Amino acid sequence: ASRLNSITDADALHFAKVLSSPTSLLSILPSISTPPEELDIYNNDWMGKYRGKSTTVLKPKTTQEVSEIVKWCNDRRIGIVPQGGNTGLVGGSVPLRDEVILSLSNMTQVRSFDPVSGILVADAGCILQSLTDYVAPHNHIMPLDLGAKGSCQIGGNVSTNAGGLRLLRYGSLHGSVLGLEVVLPDGTILDQLTTLRKDNTGYDLKQLFIGAEGTLGIITGVSILTPPAPQASNNVILALPRFENVLPLYKTVKRQLSEILSAFEFIDRTAYDLAVKHGQGRALSEEDVEGAECFVLVETSGGRREHDEEKLNNLLESLLEADEPLINTGVMAQNPAQFSSLWALREGVTEAVSKEGKAYKYDISVPLSTFKECVDLTRERLRSKGLLNEAQVKAVIGYGHVGDGNLHLNVIAKAYTPEIQDALEPFVYELVASHRGSVSAEHGIGAMKTHALHYSKDETSIAWMKKIKAIFDPNGIMNPGKVLE
Ligand code: FAD
Ligand code: MLT
Ligand code: ZN
Repeated sequence: ASRLNSITDADALHFAKVLSSPTSLLSILPSISTPPEELDIYNNDWMGKYRGKSTTVLKPKTTQEVSEIVKWCNDRRIGIVPQGGNTGLVGGSVPLRDEVILSLSNMTQVRSFDPVSGILVADAGCILQSLTDYVAPHNHIMPLDLGAKGSCQIGGNVSTNAGGLRLLRYGSLHGSVLGLEVVLPDGTILDQLTTLRKDNTGYDLKQLFIGAEGTLGIITGVSILTPPAPQASNNVILALPRFENVLPLYKTVKRQLSEILSAFEFIDRTAYDLAVKHGQGRALSEEDVEGAECFVLVETSGGRREHDEEKLNNLLESLLEADEPLINTGVMAQNPAQFSSLWALREGVTEAVSKEGKAYKYDISVPLSTFKECVDLTRERLRSKGLLNEAQVKAVIGYGHVGDGNLHLNVIAKAYTPEIQDALEPFVYELVASHRGSVSAEHGIGAMKTHALHYSKDETSIAWMKKIKAIFDPNGIMNPGKVLE
């Protein structure tokens, strides 16, 4: 990154010519003189943990404009940070230094939608919720859903290979993304925006950009398969007396609900209490939560309401009437408002955590049977270092996507401090490696985990990643310092 140049007044004036609208350029450089505070939302990440020092934000409206900007930056060796909704949780979407921020927020057109195949082609800057709203009248849904849906962009989702709440049912974006349009680091436009379900014509280049976190190019267009909307959806929150019941419960639920199971999400008791404390969803009754060590949210999506409800009721009955019940109780949504409220208790944990304090977020893949152990060992570690108290670490919580083997281990602190950081790292990463897990299940590497990549990838893999980066981006202008050190 030290080989990169800072943007000058002459560069800013050039960008002003490339961009079709004057409002597409924000710069504190004298030639433009935007008030500095207008750049704050672009320089600061969602968690308030990472802060860039960019002087200039560019918001192109077309792929051609993106291409011209990137070509100029490559020739001038200026670093670029692509930015979507800036909801990423690993510090990937803000500069490490003073790189130019290229925001996709002005690229918001749906290019086409085929209501028969469900294939949607959209600009990368379309907000996920707006695409959900766009396909809804055609009885389709987006294949992914996440708490950040109101701000995150489809280009950002693809760039982080976001998992989220529907992965159990619809799989990862490596499957549902059919094509991409990408501006490569030399400004060339790679047009792989096909709408084909099947295309085995050699190397599948688009896969490289899914999860590349903006280090190989800028995604400007996405072709994605949207599934038909389920005719009926329902959900239930199950309160469990002990964590050990989660695994057998998952087996039972999968067997009994089979094709209608669409989510199986986990919240431990501390995460639930935090969600309630910060007004995410409606609290369950005291009776329902009494003695619960953790909770599981089960969602069904299917073709016929009566059929699905019967299956869900039968499941609940058999769970409650078992000789040694796996659950204390279950609260089933009775109407759409309750359906949303139950989801909010799970989806709202992220928001609740950020209201409670500063979060150290570990988004790990580990065997499901070790979820609790990972949370408990981390809490013990902090206790043994004398850090578990209101003035330092307020809580250690676990929640996540059980069906995908993905635990969100969050440490909530009063402030980010070197002492807490040192107590947690490499401790957590070594714990993950001891289970042959992944240090990033779905949020990516960003700036947060470049030093930890080796816990999940061997030397050969990292060497090949570096070769791929060098082929696409020999000057290292694209999101410098992210993913690879
Ligand atoms: P940004 O944050 O702007 O960027 C993320 C990364 O992608 C950066 O490295 C950036 O440089 C790059 N990038 C962005 N746009 C482009 C582009 N067009 N071309 C190339 N590179 C680009 N993640 C999950 O996986 N599952 C969840 O359930 C989930 N829930 C979340 C809930 C909340 C409340 C929040 C705040 C975040 C959540 N996330 C989740 C994190 C998740 O990664 C992001 O929300 C989302 O995928 C990022 O999209 P974005 O548009 O905000 O991208
Ligand atoms: C989630 O599953 O809620 C998201 O990945 C966000 C988070 O980890 O907080
Ligand atoms: Zn998640």
